[in-house]
Amino acid sequence: MELTNKKTVLVLLCFRPVLAICVASAPITASSPVPPPISQSLTAASSDPQIKSLCAKTEYPDLCLTTIAPFFNGKTDIASVVEMLIKAGTEQTKQANATATKMAADPKYADDPKTISGLKGCYEMYDDALDNMQNAMDTIPVYDIGTIETMVSAAITDYGTYDDGFTQQPNPVPDGVSPMVDIDENLQNIGSIILAITDLMH
Ligand SMILES: *[C@@H]1O[C@H](CO)[C@@H](O)[C@H](O)[C@H]1NC(C)=O
Repeated sequence: MELTNKKTVLVLLCFRPVLAICVASAPITASSPVPPPISQSLTAASSDPQIKSLCAKTEYPDLCLTTIAPFFNGKTDIASVVEMLIKAGTEQTKQANATATKMAADPKYADDPKTISGLKGCYEMYDDALDNMQNAMDTIPVYDIGTIETMVSAAITDYGTYDDGFTQQPNPVPDGVSPMVDIDENLQNIGSIILAITDLMH
C-alpha cells in the first residue's frame, strides 16, 4: 500500500520523455510522514468547491488539484491552501533531487560525464529552492505576503537556473536539454500556482 502510494507520487512527477527513465528506476523513498492515498485525497480535494474555485483561478487548475491532494487536510482558507501547496512543492523538490541522484548513477550516463556533472550540479539548486520554500512557509502565519511571493519566486528561479546551467554547457546531452527539464517545469508550474493563490491573500 505504502509502496503503491510512493510510486503514484513518482509517476505524477514524471511526464513525457522523463517518464520512461523515472519508471525504470526503483521507487524513491519518500520522506515521512507518508501522505494519504492519492486516489482518496484527490477525490476529497477536487470535490471541495472552495478548493476547486481557488485552483480555477490559477493557470493550471488540474495540476493545482493533484498537487494539493496528498496534503489536503480539509481546511479551505487561502493561507491553509498556500501552506498545503508549499508542503507539496517541498516534497516534490526532494523527490526531484532524489530522481537526479538516481539518474546521475544510471549506467546509461556512465560514459557521459557532462550529463552526470550537470545532474550533480542541480543538488544545490534544489537545496536552495527548499530553503526558499521553507522561508515562505515560515512567513505564512504572519501573513507577510510580499515575503512569501519573493521566496516562491526565488524557488521558481532556482528550478530554471539548473536547466539553464545545464544547457549552457557545450552539448551536455545530445539535444542540449536537461533530462530533468520536465520535472523542473512541473516544479515551476507548481510555483506559479502558489504565487497565484498567495496573491488571493491580499
Ligand atoms: C540532494 O541529493 C544529494 C545527492 O544525493 C544529497 O547529498 C542532498 O542531501 C540532497 N538534498 C536534499 C535536500 O535532499
